[in-house]
Amino acid sequence: MVIKTAEFVKSSGKWQDCPEPNLPEYAFIGRSNVGKSSLINAMMNHKDLAKTSQTPGKTQLINHFLVNESWYLTDLPGYGYARVSKSLRKDFEKLITNYILNRKNLVNLFVLVDSRHTPQKIDLEFIEWCGENGIPFSIVFTKADKLKPNAAISNVENYQAELLKTWEDLPETYVTSAEKKVGTDEILNFISKTNKFLEENHVNFKG
Ligand code: GTP
Ligand code: MG
Repeated sequence: MVIKTAEFVKSSGKWQDCPEPNLPEYAFIGRSNVGKSSLINAMMNHKDLAKTSQTPGKTQLINHFLVNESWYLTDLPGYGYARVSKSLRKDFEKLITNYILNRKNLVNLFVLVDSRHTPQKIDLEFIEWCGENGIPFSIVFTKADKLKPNAAISNVENYQAELLKTWEDLPETYVTSAEKKVGTDEILNFISKTNKFLEENHVNFKG
């Protein structure tokens, strides 16, 4: 997919304030600092469309970007950020889960996990929650440039083996690096194919 236009639409503090749900939407989620905003920028060929930071907890609102005037890409706040109070963490969780459960036009969630780590409880729990709630999702391994290729492959295989303990089929997985622009075309291809499928099947969210 060629990105002709990518524009910031708005930041929302609750799902009810998000833009009209009248276009297909794809959202990025994952632990704080996993690289959501960086990967969005890499996909959009834009250095700072989505704000990034070395300090976890940068994205605290739901940010909508309109791509090619035909679909939304959404940057969500990270979950599990330890350095905020428990009640604030609960507020973030509620913001995220309410958005996911209520956003009518959400077509797919990309769950980002750090390719350097063994499967983390908080991510596995989140993935489990997606399954229980029938949320379509894919898994995106991030920061692959920080690993030797073999280590990245073995970590991904290890993760898939962990998922197969509870899932019959594996979700789509992508290995990415925002730094080296790896895996971004694959994600965009998936989005492009899905948009085409929706169009051909006359699924629109307009009314
Ligand atoms: P929150 O908004 O706080 O939830 O974080 P986020 O998931 O949006 O992460 P962000 O994109 O802000 O990136 C966090 C840090 O990781 C930044 O310092 C990025 O430069 C770095 N980073 C992100 N992606 C990559 C990558 O592919 N490779 C490398 N080496 N660093 C990355
Ligand atoms: Mg962010």
